[in-house]
Amino acid sequence: MIKVLGLFALVSLTSWLSISLVNGQLPCVPVGVVNLTMNLNSVVTWDPNPEENCTVSYHLVYVDSDTGTEYIYAVSGTSLNVGFLPVCDSYVFRVIPISNQNVEGEETTLATKIPLPEDANLTVALIMVSQDGDDVAIQWIMDDAWTKCADRFRVIINDAEIDHIQDIYTFDTSIVIPDLAPCTTYEFGVVAIYNWVIEGPVTVVSRTIPEGVQSPPTLIGVELAPRNVTLLWLLQSYASNKCPVSAAFVDIANNYNTTVSILDQTSRQPISITLSDLVPNSLYIVNTTVINSAGSSRAVPIAIQTTSS
Ligand SMILES: *[C@@H]1O[C@H](CO)[C@@H](O)[C@H](O)[C@H]1NC(C)=O
Ligand SMILES: *[C@@H]1O[C@H](CO)[C@@H](O)[C@H](O)[C@H]1NC(C)=O
Ligand SMILES: *[C@@H]1O[C@H](CO)[C@@H](O)[C@H](O)[C@H]1NC(C)=O
Ligand SMILES: *[C@@H]1O[C@H](CO)[C@@H](O)[C@H](O)[C@H]1NC(C)=O
Ligand SMILES: *[C@@H]1O[C@H](CO)[C@@H](O)[C@H](O)[C@H]1NC(C)=O
Ligand SMILES: *[C@@H]1O[C@H](CO)[C@@H](O)[C@H](O)[C@H]1NC(C)=O
Repeated sequence: MIKVLGLFALVSLTSWLSISLVNGQLPCVPVGVVNLTMNLNSVVTWDPNPEENCTVSYHLVYVDSDTGTEYIYAVSGTSLNVGFLPVCDSYVFRVIPISNQNVEGEETTLATKIPLPEDANLTVALIMVSQDGDDVAIQWIMDDAWTKCADRFRVIINDAEIDHIQDIYTFDTSIVIPDLAPCTTYEFGVVAIYNWVIEGPVTVVSRTIPEGVQSPPTLIGVELAPRNVTLLWLLQSYASNKCPVSAAFVDIANNYNTTVSILDQTSRQPISITLSDLVPNSLYIVNTTVINSAGSSRAVPIAIQTTSS
């Protein structure tokens, strides 16, 4: 294989006419090659077109980058090793068969990236992991030689205790993951992705989110009687806040308050709270808060009216 410095001998398509006039017959024009691909070892290969009727003496291979044609090769076989090109840069390869009458055939093109070599170190190095309440910020770098190969990154958020894994894909080299569950130990993994499918090894860091109060409970049921009222409350789930819940505090304005203890479970069932010693046909304002190891949730105020006796 030789690099072609001048193409003076070539007869381009525009000058057929003069040939045909001289010889009195049309020259044989080669058709385009098929199966033009790049393998993982940076070798561009192709197959002769099965329909080819001309005698092909060699192929011209143009190697174009986005700044224009960088190399031109004359190749007698059906492969060209381009391992010298920079890894992960994008190129367009144009293969043109040339007949033994020096007639240029049809062009076949392949646009592709130069593949990663097998010894590429695709490991991501975490350079910053910081925590602000229930937000975690992670920043990473990788070996300069391979950075441009990474199309994007996969950030894995793993809460092993409840077997919950979430993936976030990003083009950036940093991420802020907000609103993580209090009292939860997470493993955060970062993986670089190459050519959209190949994944490098995972780099993992672990962080525990500090205690945080429950979000306010949600009222899901009310039973009204003349002298009592039963309220059914849904608590924030264990998956989104693992800090142990111990009680609910109920305050009835201008009346009394009471603390109802709660036996916490990983499957948090709705809790039922009955307020008694009420007066029939009366309006009460009731504030309810949930208490966990971090303290009291915001109060949920509701107005209730006892039924008449
Ligand atoms: C093109 O590749 C396919 C699959 O590898 C193969 O079956 C076929 O014979 C090839 N075509 C030519 C013309 O060699
Ligand atoms: C090659 O010759 C065959 C037989 O004459 C013909 O069927 C075929 O179309 C020709 N191929 C091309 C590319 O012209
Ligand atoms: C691969 O890259 C990572 C991150 O830059 C580095 O920590 C590690 O030592 C490298 N491994 C090898 C075998 O070079
Ligand atoms: C509430 O009052 C009704 C009627 O007065 C009574 O039947 C019921 O047992 C009471 N419920 C509770 C939980 O005290
Ligand atoms: C209920 O809570 C609100 C604020 O959350 C407060 O302004 C109000 O005084 C409370 N009422 C009672 C009866 O505790
Ligand atoms: C609850 O009630 C008791 C006595 O009735 C009172 O001393 C206390 O301050 C009340 N707590 C709140 C938070 O309102």
